[in-house]
Amino acid sequence: MQERKFAIQKATRYFRARRAATPGDGMRIVITGKGGVGKTTTCAILSSLFAEGGLQVLAVDEDPQQNLAFSLGYPPERASVIVPLAKNASYIEEKVGVPSGAGRGGMLRLNPQVSDVVDRFGITIDDHISLLVMGSVTAAAGGCLCPENALLGSVLRYIRLRRNEVILMDTQAGVEHFGRAMSAGFSQAVVVTEPSFNAYSVAEHSASLARELGIRHVHLVVNKVRSEADIRKTERLSGGGVRFTSVHYIPYNEEIIESEPDVRSIVLGRSENPVAESLRDLCLDICAASEKSERDIISRPS
Ligand SMILES: Nc1ncnc2c1ncn2[C@@H]1O[C@H](COP(=O)(O)OP(=O)(O)OP(=O)(O)O)[C@@H](O)[C@H]1O
Ligand SMILES: [Mg+2]
Repeated sequence: MQERKFAIQKATRYFRARRAATPGDGMRIVITGKGGVGKTTTCAILSSLFAEGGLQVLAVDEDPQQNLAFSLGYPPERASVIVPLAKNASYIEEKVGVPSGAGRGGMLRLNPQVSDVVDRFGITIDDHISLLVMGSVTAAAGGCLCPENALLGSVLRYIRLRRNEVILMDTQAGVEHFGRAMSAGFSQAVVVTEPSFNAYSVAEHSASLARELGIRHVHLVVNKVRSEADIRKTERLSGGGVRFTSVHYIPYNEEIIESEPDVRSIVLGRSENPVAESLRDLCLDICAASEKSERDIISRPS
């Protein structure tokens, strides 16, 4: 555990040092996959691991079920009354100039200035982690110009300009929503699956979409692995398919169930947890991919 912790601190030191100085595409990571495979759990644990590595993290919840706050250990009585941006009628009207629910068209401000969004609506989880509960960009890729989508699209575009944080976005299940508007500005994707045919099919589809949308680094997390047979099965399913930047097998672990909804204790606890340990390796691969992108940008002829 200590060894990997130091490795992450070393890897994130590079990110911290380069951040201010380079035009690189940073660490903005979208997490996708089939329902129930462990996206939110992965997002919360990754947030904690990057925070442990000394980075500032902005965790963004795009899932209308909005359970990332619970997983990050935010008190349940406060988490359950959070109003997502998609339902924040006064902010939508203030920024877009039209009340939410006003339907398509009208005199929408399509690119409102939303640089105040994290200061006003970000929730402080601890010194290193903030949470923005955004809600869903329904059919935004399909071009719906309702006030909610105009606002959320602007928020996503704004988020990619934030340079001093790792952005980790938890998404709703499936690929239907995963279009250009959603993935705009994300440089890496973590696709989560279980070792099952259905979950892996969704993962492959998500990965192909991510690549088509210009996301260069796509990592695969095979979660809830119970045996060597699960690993062999996933290898068979993946034969000849999408190429992933990195592949991680995460064990099924009862401690995750026992500690839920707050899974941060898995990282913060004294004893070593196999899920946190395996996800530390993913953190390292995300840092390495980000570093590679930065180097490519620096060495690109201008
Ligand atoms: N490695 C693991 N071992 C055991 N249980 C796990 C593991 N990862 C996640 N779980 C459990 O699986 C369930 C689903 O996890 P989670 O909510 O993170 O999935 P999700 O993909 O975000 O679901 P949804 O699509 O509903 O948003 C939870 O009960 C969680 O505790
Ligand atoms: Mg979830």
